[in-house]
Formats: sequence, structure tokens, C-alpha cells
Amino acid sequence: MSDKGALLREHYDLAPSLDLACEMQDTYDRMKRVVPLPDWAIHAPYVAAINRLKRERGAVILAHNYMTPEIYHGIADFVGDSLQLAVRATEVEAEVIVQCGVHFMAETSKILNPAKTVLIPDTEAGCSLASSITAEGVAAMRAQYPGAPVVSYVNTTAEVKAASDICCTSANALQIVDAMESDTVIMTPDQYLAQNVANASTKKVVFWPGSCIVHELYTAEDIRAYRDGHPGVAIIAHPECTPEVVAEADFTGSTSGILDWVARNRPAEAMLVTECSMASNIADALPDVAFSKPCNICPYMKKITLEKVLWSLHSMTTSVEIDAAVAVPARAAVQRMIDLSRRLGL
Ligand code: 13P
Ligand code: SF4
Repeated sequence: MSDKGALLREHYDLAPSLDLACEMQDTYDRMKRVVPLPDWAIHAPYVAAINRLKRERGAVILAHNYMTPEIYHGIADFVGDSLQLAVRATEVEAEVIVQCGVHFMAETSKILNPAKTVLIPDTEAGCSLASSITAEGVAAMRAQYPGAPVVSYVNTTAEVKAASDICCTSANALQIVDAMESDTVIMTPDQYLAQNVANASTKKVVFWPGSCIVHELYTAEDIRAYRDGHPGVAIIAHPECTPEVVAEADFTGSTSGILDWVARNRPAEAMLVTECSMASNIADALPDVAFSKPCNICPYMKKITLEKVLWSLHSMTTSVEIDAAVAVPARAAVQRMIDLSRRLGL
């Protein structure tokens, strides 16, 4: 990015500025517990430049809950979990969407908005789940379990979505699986999400052996040891964790489900068994909650930085393109999920 950084500095005043940082105090107030002032003085010129350019380009920024606080609070027009981002993508009026998240999220926005420009600030922002399965993998599962519907997590490529009957997210996986007419349901690609759903469902759930490199690192032993040392701590897990970890948790939910749970229950101490930015993004809104480490970082989500977002808007790159032969059936699978979620009141 250094050559791009130099180019950007020719067009925008990006020098660290304490004056600007103080002028933008309202924004800083939402992250000052976790972002030191000298860092904010570095971020503020980028935040100001992005917000100006966003208006000039008629763009909106959709950001996942795992974005860093300066993105989440500084430049996002809408933040949420995968389901909320997908639903929001269907309602966007702007002609340009900048997706601050990983590539499959940008693809989902493009699938739902084929005529709009969807920009991803770093095409290398992948996902271990999305890269674990191909459309051929889905076909192999279908051959093994003839007649069973395929429910694919949105953490998949457009090709895999196109090969699936319906998508799901961590916010609706159980309800989507339960709504399938067949007794056997194929879930791809997250083995742990599938096992967690199977534990709560009457269906026989068969699954692909993919996993999230962030959530699979947590172990039940670690969680138990942490609880022993911190009596009263609320342990809140994402369903991409193993069933053993989920069994140790006080609550399990999607990223937005986790944020809502903490905001509603206000535990004195909370351990969010998920990506590190989650706690950072709500720390200032919940000053009475102590958020405990350790947490794990998603290296893919962290590829999205303010500098790359500014470059993306400046150069209008990189635009996500999906062949219509893939986009049309992929859209059907995503739209079925959105429609069913609405009908179920999720
Ligand atoms: P959510 O849908 O819960 O936001 O999860 C997305 C994700 O990638 C979690 O690792
Ligand atoms: Fe993929 Fe895991 Fe990163 Fe989410 S946290 S984007 S599932 S690798």
C-alpha cells in the first residue's frame, strides 16, 4: 500500500492532526476507552477524508461487527452481523456500496444488488470457511445424501451459494434447518455451527468439515479455567466455536446477538468468545462492563484498514463482479434465507 499511500497523500491531507482529532471529539467519544488519543490523531484525517469522499461518490459503507473501532464508529453507515448486512444490502439506495468486511460479504451485497457497484477494499480479505468448500464439494454431499436439502452458511463463495438450496447465518441457522421439510439436512461448510445446530434440532444434520480459524482456537478447558479464576464472569460465545465451548457459555449467538446480550444484561465482567474487535466496539457504550482477554483476531477482517477504504473510494476499486450464471442461483439461495427469516420474525 505504500505507493498507494503516497498517491493518497498527494490528494488528501492525511498528516496526523491533534487539532482535527479534537474537532472530531463526538466520534472519538465512541471509542476513547480503546483507542489512545495519539492513534486517533492518526486516524482522524483518514476518517474525515473518507466521509467527504463517500458523499461525493454517493456511496454507503456497510461494515461487519469485526471491523476495528475507527472503521466501525468513524466511517460506517451501517454496522451489523452477516444477516443484518445482507438484509441492509437489499435496502440500499446509493449506487456504490463499500463493504468493510470479508470477500464473501461483498459478494453477498453484489448478489443482491447486481446493478450497483460493490467495492471491497482488499480482495485478499478471505475466510477459512469460504475457502474450505467448492461447488463440487456441495455436489459430493448431495450424492452422498440424495434428496437432502443443502443449507449453506453465508460464509461461502457465490459458486457454493449457487449450488445450495438456501443460505443461513449464525443468527438463523437453527430456524432455517428446522424449517426444511426433509429429516436429513446437509449443512456446509462449518462443522461446528452444524453440530451446534444439530444439538438443538430434531433434524439429522450432516456436515462438511470446514472450520473458522478464529473460533476453533478456543477450548472448553481454557474457558473453564478462565471461569474458575473469574467467578461471576459472563461467557458469551459465537456458534462457530466447538460444541464443547458452546456448552461452557452463558449465551451463544451471532455477533449482533452477542452485542445485544451484553448491552441488555450488563454483566460486571464479560468474556466474548469471538473476534477481538467485538469488545472494543462496545466498550465505550458500556463503561460498567469489564471485557476480559484473551480474544482472537481474524487476520482476514483485519486486512480492511482506513487507508485501503480511502484508496478504494478514491480509485473506485476493487469492484466485485459475479457471472450472471452464478449470481442468479446464488441470489435465489440468499433471498430464500431473507424471506424465510422475515416470515419467522428473525
Ligand atoms: P455473524 O454472522 O455472526 O456476524 O458472523 C460472521 C462471521 O464471520 C463470524 O466469524
Ligand atoms: Fe471467516 Fe472466521 Fe474470519 Fe469470520 S472470523 S471471517 S468465519 S475466518
